[in-house]
Amino acid sequence: MKDYLTIAEFADKVGKSTETLRRWDREGKLIAMREPISNYRIYRKEQLQMFENIQMIDNKKLDIEISPIRPYRVLELFAGAGGLAIGLEKAGLKCVALNEIDHWAAETLRTNRPHWDVIEDDIKNISFEKYKGEVDVVTGGFPCQAFSYAGKKLGLQDARGTLFYEFARAVQETQPAICIGENVRGLLNHEGGNTLKGMISILDEIGYKVLEPRVLKAIYYDVPQKRERLILVGIRKDLDISFEYPKPSKTIYTLKDALKKGELFASDVPDSPGTKYPESKRKVLELVPPGGYWRNLPLDIQMQYMQKSFYLGGGKTGMARRISWDEPCLTLTCSPAQKQTERCHPDETRPFTVREYARIQTFPDEWKFAGPVSAQYKQIGNAVPVNLAYAVGKEVIRTLNQMEVGKSLKMQA
Ligand SMILES: C[S@@+](CC[C@H](N)C(=O)[O-])C[C@H]1O[C@@H](n2cnc3c(N)ncnc32)[C@H](O)[C@@H]1O
Repeated sequence: MKDYLTIAEFADKVGKSTETLRRWDREGKLIAMREPISNYRIYRKEQLQMFENIQMIDNKKLDIEISPIRPYRVLELFAGAGGLAIGLEKAGLKCVALNEIDHWAAETLRTNRPHWDVIEDDIKNISFEKYKGEVDVVTGGFPCQAFSYAGKKLGLQDARGTLFYEFARAVQETQPAICIGENVRGLLNHEGGNTLKGMISILDEIGYKVLEPRVLKAIYYDVPQKRERLILVGIRKDLDISFEYPKPSKTIYTLKDALKKGELFASDVPDSPGTKYPESKRKVLELVPPGGYWRNLPLDIQMQYMQKSFYLGGGKTGMARRISWDEPCLTLTCSPAQKQTERCHPDETRPFTVREYARIQTFPDEWKFAGPVSAQYKQIGNAVPVNLAYAVGKEVIRTLNQMEVGKSLKMQA
């Protein structure tokens, strides 16, 4: 581990938000140092020690420690190929209905879980009234769109025309105990943070207390990939229950864990189709060693390959990148040969195959993806990693169990 951690790295490791750490710094509870040039807060790795006993956990124990008191039901919106859905299912939640507009993604869900109620349609056309009182949780990775926000508190109608509106409408129509939105980190700063503020204000208006949003790093939840997801959790205001974000796991997995037999998977990755690089790109990537990127190329090829980006500065460590066996993979995208986000196989000069992609997202090998190869990559690249969803699902169960215990205590009184 490095001697110093950025505030974001430290926050992830100790399971606190960066806002909490800044407050603790201001209040003198946990004082950060300052990076001399940027003046950003940094932390010494020794400062982790005060958290060590309480924060890092062995995720494998979650299965035994947290199980549902009664079957809890989920309505999953924008369900894609089911990364979030099967992670929640693995945690012990029951998906009663899933909505998805994309035909191939819906076909994937139907193929793997014929008993799931898959509603293949634009969410705008669906009424969720019939699920009122039938679901405990509504989840959804709504695509991020701006809505006008003039600093005032927003109501549901102010978001009309956006997919977040449809998510909030489904929550309002079904009244679950918990609603969970997932999104990209970029939502934090979208429109200067106002989009997220507006979303929180809307959920508040329809009766949900929203926790401070948190960016979860998948590498801390048994996923061999540096992917991040922003999680937004709302709890129905009449309920006296609390949600905690999942604690980071002790183990960090690498590409080797994804593709070879080991702790994460019981066999080597099965063969499957995959795309190829165009010959010109293949010749360039051939020159990059495992763990390397465009800076490892001879200077003339760097300039030729990077074109204008060569002069723009910044690391661009994702360009002409070959992943090494001993590191977690960089975030997978929807198309694996795309420029600026190459993730070349460590030994062979090619993108990862479909099944390799799925492994890096911790999908089980049995999970089939429907449609042409490009549609399969897209579904996998869009997904919430299954093991991250599992960790969130366990905390959802812990929260819902509080509700059940509360109910039975009331009945006894
Ligand atoms: C980020 S992906 C969801 C990933 C999914 N949660 C998973 O873990 O696999 C967002 C999904 O929303 C779907 N979508 C976009 N617009 C939609 C709409 N109007 N109605 C229903 N689904 C929509 C997309 O097709 C895409 O599959």
